[in-house]
Amino acid sequence: MTDKLIIFDTTLRDGEQSPGASMNQDEKLRIATALERMHVDIIEAGFPAASPGDFAAVEAVARLVKDSAVCGLARTLDGDIDRAGEALKDAAAPRIHTFLATSPIHMRDKLRMTPDEVVEAAVRAVKRALRYTDDVEFSPEDAGRSETDFLCRVIEAVIAAGARTVNIPDTVGYALPHRFGALIQTLRERVPNSDKAIFSVHCHNDLGLAVANSLAAVDHGARQVECTINGLGERAGNAALEEIVMAMRTRKDEFSCEARVDSTQLVPCSRLVSTITGFPVQPNKAIVGINAFAHEAGIHQDGVLKSRETYEIMRAEDVGWSANRMVLGKHSGRNAFRSRLEQLGIELASAEELNDAFARFKDLADKKHEIFDDDLQALVTDSRLEGENERFKLLTLKVCSETGETPLARITLSVDGEEKSAEAEGSGPVDAAFKAIETEVKSDCDLLLYSVNNITSGTDSQGEVTVRVEKGGHIANGQGADTDIVIASAKAYLNALNKILRPVVRTHPQV
Ligand code: KIV
Ligand code: ZN
Repeated sequence: MTDKLIIFDTTLRDGEQSPGASMNQDEKLRIATALERMHVDIIEAGFPAASPGDFAAVEAVARLVKDSAVCGLARTLDGDIDRAGEALKDAAAPRIHTFLATSPIHMRDKLRMTPDEVVEAAVRAVKRALRYTDDVEFSPEDAGRSETDFLCRVIEAVIAAGARTVNIPDTVGYALPHRFGALIQTLRERVPNSDKAIFSVHCHNDLGLAVANSLAAVDHGARQVECTINGLGERAGNAALEEIVMAMRTRKDEFSCEARVDSTQLVPCSRLVSTITGFPVQPNKAIVGINAFAHEAGIHQDGVLKSRETYEIMRAEDVGWSANRMVLGKHSGRNAFRSRLEQLGIELASAEELNDAFARFKDLADKKHEIFDDDLQALVTDSRLEGENERFKLLTLKVCSETGETPLARITLSVDGEEKSAEAEGSGPVDAAFKAIETEVKSDCDLLLYSVNNITSGTDSQGEVTVRVEKGGHIANGQGADTDIVIASAKAYLNALNKILRPVVRTHPQV
């Protein structure tokens, strides 16, 4: 009989720890909905003690999600555990994940705690978490560099205290597959009560080995893998969920367990996370990169046409690469629009949101003949970005650009509800538009990233722009979409400014 491999997604927690990937509550809810639709077993929704905003986001995810367990991270501090317990109180299946470092370097230089104190604090934290839920996970942080004897001692103690899952993190991405697999086996063999808990792994990708290490661990008895969509996460990221799932499925001949996620949701979910975080997916990224199923070389194309198995080990449609269907046109009505959004899993919260999205759809259909699924996704994202509480909104933009002339932008904005106009020249139309915005907003931010992607093919495609700005150590991403890429750019810049000028102060769980 095949065991179940538990997929624990930490896109909303470890993924969000990537500099610049922070998400607001609405964005987290949209990703959580997509993860639930994919049948991910556990969603780590955040670190509730980080800030009131993080607490509220975990609470909102816990209320919304019914079919996946929802987890909150907590250090071993009483206050952290209580915050996690409170944030999860409405979850259908709450889990508290508490952690404490066990490597000599972390205990000595970061925690300044003795090994005895670490064991005591870990046990105390697990017991306190059990006041809120019987589903408690413990992670010995930096397990990959911890001494095996001490790891065995800590793990035995937390299992005896009631932890149902023991997660072994390779926090700094230092492990090698054969050694990491052997470590999992050793722990399972040497810890006397190891059969009372599920062993999990959480691998970072600093050496590009996060997926390989996770699979080696599964091969040696781990039954939970912590991973993120697109491999998002601290530094080089975490193990990529899509790669773990498809490696297990494609090579099921090699594994005695299987993940039960719906793989057709992998590409849509990857795109959603990429759009929200502003982290593009590299074209040659396994499974979800745009080239992952493209056959450039003539000899490959010939082979694939004769028999797809010659060069394809997976089917594009099994991971969610459907033809980008033309669904609607300018004569489509509100019902057709709403029902296509429903089929795409996009839920609009209110009649106003539907009205607004439908008005934008009609607008777009006037400019663009054929509206594809991806256009609809972008359109809804765009209307959500321009929420009512935003300080800056784009009202009008006019750009003059001519061969041999300096581009000029004239912009009208709503700033805190007041209409303001400005103009500026720039080295190109986008530069002029940003400078015109700065004339009014005076944000003094540094622009770290500016990128444009076409949402569909063809010159009438909408352009989707991502910008990343920095001010005083805070980083924010902004997005905007429009068939006019200068307008899309201005929307993206304003979206980023709306976020950066209201920075959120949060505690990092691991520092
Ligand atoms: O990488 C890590 O060690 C973590 C822990 C909090 C599990 O993210
Ligand atoms: Zn981590």
